[in-house]
Amino acid sequence: MQHDLLIVGSGLSGMRAAIEARQRGVECAVLSMVYPIRSHSVAAQGGINAALNNATDKSNEDSWEQHAFDTVKGSDFLADQDAVCVLTEQAIPRVYEMESWGTPFSRLASGRICQRPFGGGAHARTCYAEDRTGHNLLHTLFQQCLALDIPFYQEWYALDLVIEDNRCAGLVAMNMLDGKVAAIGAKAIILAAGGAGRVFAQSTNALINSGSGIAMAYQAGIPLKDMEFIQFHPTTLYGTNILITEGARGEGGYLFNNKGERFMAEYAASAMELAPRDIVARSIVTEIKAGRGFENAYVHLDLTHLGAERITERLPGIHEIALRFAGVDITREPMPVQPGQHYTMGGIDCDATCKTDVAGVYACGECSCVSVHGANRLGGNSLLETLVFGKIAGDSAADFLGTGPTLSGQALLNQRSKDREASLVRRFSTRGDVTVGQVYDDLRTAMFQNVGVYREAESLQLACDHIRKLKRQYTQVGLTSQTREFNLELITALELEGMLDLAQTIAEGALRRQESRGSHARNDYQTRDDENWLHHTLATPGEDGPVFGKKDVDLSRWEPQERKY
Ligand code: FUM
Repeated sequence: MQHDLLIVGSGLSGMRAAIEARQRGVECAVLSMVYPIRSHSVAAQGGINAALNNATDKSNEDSWEQHAFDTVKGSDFLADQDAVCVLTEQAIPRVYEMESWGTPFSRLASGRICQRPFGGGAHARTCYAEDRTGHNLLHTLFQQCLALDIPFYQEWYALDLVIEDNRCAGLVAMNMLDGKVAAIGAKAIILAAGGAGRVFAQSTNALINSGSGIAMAYQAGIPLKDMEFIQFHPTTLYGTNILITEGARGEGGYLFNNKGERFMAEYAASAMELAPRDIVARSIVTEIKAGRGFENAYVHLDLTHLGAERITERLPGIHEIALRFAGVDITREPMPVQPGQHYTMGGIDCDATCKTDVAGVYACGECSCVSVHGANRLGGNSLLETLVFGKIAGDSAADFLGTGPTLSGQALLNQRSKDREASLVRRFSTRGDVTVGQVYDDLRTAMFQNVGVYREAESLQLACDHIRKLKRQYTQVGLTSQTREFNLELITALELEGMLDLAQTIAEGALRRQESRGSHARNDYQTRDDENWLHHTLATPGEDGPVFGKKDVDLSRWEPQERKY
């Protein structure tokens, strides 16, 4: 099994990369642990940002530069400004491209694509398809992949990225259907495997978002960048943590505490409910801690004043989710919401051409850290990142393959495949008292409790110590299910090994960073410290956990300033 280019992940970034490479004449295949249209991009709701100016008037026009500035300010000045300019300038052609490929966007009366305001944006620039934008974009890209005859390894789990002499050799992967391990040679690999949300309890992320692609790169020695920056979405449905799109506030929804107050007036008097996510999430947690929440656990998001017609036209998915999962008819009553983990701002360190430090290995989408989100991502910029940097990754890989590299490191690849098989046999024969599920739940709970919206040295140290204990326990974890065929307990065990590594980079990175910036809010260091901490964090695997370094932030366009909303 060999390919010129192998893409790991079939979400928006992976499929966009595949399309680009294929259109450039590259032989490529996509490997994914799920059927492509079950990738987590399908769950994105609210929209995709681009300065199209469909909802602005001539006196108050949007521009890609304004979009770039909003993104940099939203990032608390940790995003690389050159990369952000690529993101926002390329936003416009990427959205029109999706329109021309057939994405059924919601439409204004003029026929133009609908745009709604999102948090931290100076204009209504979030293009949407009701509240099912990711679903519509993903289906569009899948159609394009099918039209281009791009082959998919469906329900294959990527185990090891194999690198020899700092060059890509290929991938060891497992066919989940029969549990067999295989070596797949590749001259180039694009990692597009999504985020690590499931490292936390109370996450909007799908079960597949364990960060396995990020962990695989880390275990192969590729540095991870800014892992301590985790986004908590302000509004997830209380009890289930299903995403309640920011579009609900973009359409005019209000947040209320138990005193009937629109409390955002206290925290962001001008932007109110449409302040950036880090600020709204912190405000909700502060209200709840001060006893102004409901049942000490949630606040109310009220849309009733918008009227049933607008709610069911623009937010039909949210209407259905609230009804089915909370028994709340949002056309008549407010819904209970609380912050939940939503996005991994950090990831595989790469530059604005998606190159990592290893020849032939690229990364794009949520598993990567270019960095365009810095310390806090603006809503609507993640779908955008997948398309802009998915295309760029496909281009970069095509450029690399155009230089005529040969397949290399195949002996090592085959050896690593045999090693993996042997380790699976050992895993099946381990008879520990602790189950996969126990360690999995324990890790996720500890991360949410101690590395959450607010952090401090004590809680972070607790998390770090606990992860080390869980890592020791993990070596004794046995499997109750002994089958090789579609063994989800085995897959979870494999994911868990990576989750423990990633949790360490997150918690130890957060403990090191003695400041508050964007989503990283320390009770014991409450202000941003540009003098000491205006740099990216790099984490590489060492003998005894992550070894940390730093990397400069590109500040070529705007001077850091205080964030006010
Ligand atoms: O709230 C949302 O619809 C999520 C959008 C995003 O994460 O960009």
